[in-house]
Amino acid sequence: MSVQWHTYADARAAADACARKIAALIEEALAGQELATLAVSGGSTPKLMFEKLATEPVRWDRVHLFWVDERSVPPTDAASNYKLTEDHLIARARIPHRNLHRVVGEAKPALAARRYGEEIREFFGLEEGEMPHFDIVHRGMGPDAHTASLFPGDPLIDDREGIAAATYAEKFKQWRVTLLPGALLAAKHTVFLVAGEDKAEAVRAVFREEYDPKKYPAQIASHHGRGVIWFLDEAAARMME
Ligand code: 6PG
Repeated sequence: MSVQWHTYADARAAADACARKIAALIEEALAGQELATLAVSGGSTPKLMFEKLATEPVRWDRVHLFWVDERSVPPTDAASNYKLTEDHLIARARIPHRNLHRVVGEAKPALAARRYGEEIREFFGLEEGEMPHFDIVHRGMGPDAHTASLFPGDPLIDDREGIAAATYAEKFKQWRVTLLPGALLAAKHTVFLVAGEDKAEAVRAVFREEYDPKKYPAQIASHHGRGVIWFLDEAAARMME
């Protein structure tokens, strides 16, 4: 499937459009099944998108929320992706607690990753070796073209067997738990939300350089995934003219 991408005047406009698309994809999924699954990323960009998504008419009682990655910190920590989602989406949209599948950031990273993989397998009813097909995976991208917590050069980028793993983000001196490429590639729909001048070179590289996910991890499921849509502000798309 071709990669769609849309550019907006500023970060808020890109975030609003991304939120509306996620809401529409959830409704589309719910037209054909009882539950929808959404995996979200963290960082700083999603804040505006989460706040907009919380105002969309989504049947959250039928949506199960997962995380693309998490920092190995408690859910109350300012660095927690769960906390970001709780503050800007979950509390506002009143998503039922039973629908939340957070990474246990306060546990040892390897244990948290194992438990997260088990929880995903159990929820999706997966046999050994099967991948979860999230209805929607929301991803961001760093200025170094990292995505999830898959940073350039990480051997995990070659992993197509596992669902989640612990990884040490040298750049941030932080342990993390991340979905692995196999799970990202299996998504039914992937939406990227990327904004800011500092992302422009990475956006150019992802789209214009040879496919080399070890160098540009955001290329995972950006070329080979199924429904992939990029939401960019003009600053991040600056080098694509
Ligand atoms: C994280 C995210 C990560 C994020 C990029 C972009 O845990 O940090 O999941 O993959 O999408 O780092 O982050 P910003 O939105 O802060 O630029």
